[in-house]
Amino acid sequence: MPNVSPNVEKALDTLSDVRRGKLDLGWMKSNPEGWGVKATPRDERGLGLEDINRVGRYGDVPDEGSIFGSMAPRGSEIPEDMPSLGCYDINDKSLVWAENAAHLYDEAVARQWSSARDIPWGELQPQRDDLEKAMCQVCTNLAEIEFVAGDMPAKWLHRINHDFHEVKLFLASQIFDEARHMEVFRKRALANGGGLLRSSPDSEQLLRVILEAPNFTTGSALMHILGEGFVLTLFRNGEMFALTPVEKKIFRLCMQDEARHVAYGTMHLKYFLEKHPERESEIHDILRRGEEATFSLNQTQDTVEARAILAGGGLEYIEEGFKKLGYLFKKQIHEYLYRLKMAGIDRTNKLAIPVELPI
Ligand SMILES: [Fe+2]
Ligand SMILES: [Fe+2]
Repeated sequence: MPNVSPNVEKALDTLSDVRRGKLDLGWMKSNPEGWGVKATPRDERGLGLEDINRVGRYGDVPDEGSIFGSMAPRGSEIPEDMPSLGCYDINDKSLVWAENAAHLYDEAVARQWSSARDIPWGELQPQRDDLEKAMCQVCTNLAEIEFVAGDMPAKWLHRINHDFHEVKLFLASQIFDEARHMEVFRKRALANGGGLLRSSPDSEQLLRVILEAPNFTTGSALMHILGEGFVLTLFRNGEMFALTPVEKKIFRLCMQDEARHVAYGTMHLKYFLEKHPERESEIHDILRRGEEATFSLNQTQDTVEARAILAGGGLEYIEEGFKKLGYLFKKQIHEYLYRLKMAGIDRTNKLAIPVELPI
């Protein structure tokens, strides 16, 4: 027997006891009130997170997360010597919760897609240089900014108490969605004889505001409602920019994912403001900064030129393209204000940016 640490020695002693028939079986008597439940699938979608929340007390989500700050599954018996790991310090439900988190996670799992298999890459066709370059520039921009929406949840995820696992799982699904978005736009840039064009220092400067938000809720309002809301409206109008069935499918599939991210953010802000109406001004402040950043980001020269060429159908129709971008912007603002109203906040008369583009 090599020299082993006390922990390994203790494990070997336990194993030896069990093998000699010295059983404990105390775990069999643990958590009696949690025993005897039977979760069943609600429908053909299978056994979802929502379904297992409908049995016993397993769906009871405390306003304050477990004081143990551990990884113990919600509803299990927690021994008194459970260590607090110190890292799970977001313990207030109102700081992360959204009533639709379990539903959105179930939907995310059911609607995963593959950028390798589910995009009809074989239907790409050679394009005129101006159109292919515009598409590649748009894809370069999107590949650059998509994963900030993965980095932001990742920054907060490990701090969230495990009692709010619905939120943690949803955010994990979002991180993977954003990974797919980043790679699908990168793939489109490289798949039709073009390539990546110019990255954007301005965009990155502006998106820092999301990563540097002082808490999860302000970061979420900025990203889920404002940033991703604008992107959702853009993808919803993806036909405006698509050259082939390939881009149409990319925009449509990304749109489904973005709709979940925006829905979480909207419902989280609603929950937060119901619990903390006194903090509405904090949300207004960060949204004002975010509106300025989003507006500038969407109007950077590379972005606006490339989008207008695609929307118009060629460099010679760029004027037509600008008009379509103006129409899209109006829709983005309208939908943004509507979502905020659903969350319980009205910025109609507080907007820091014009409601229409001067084009
Ligand atoms: Fe995305
Ligand atoms: Fe997203």
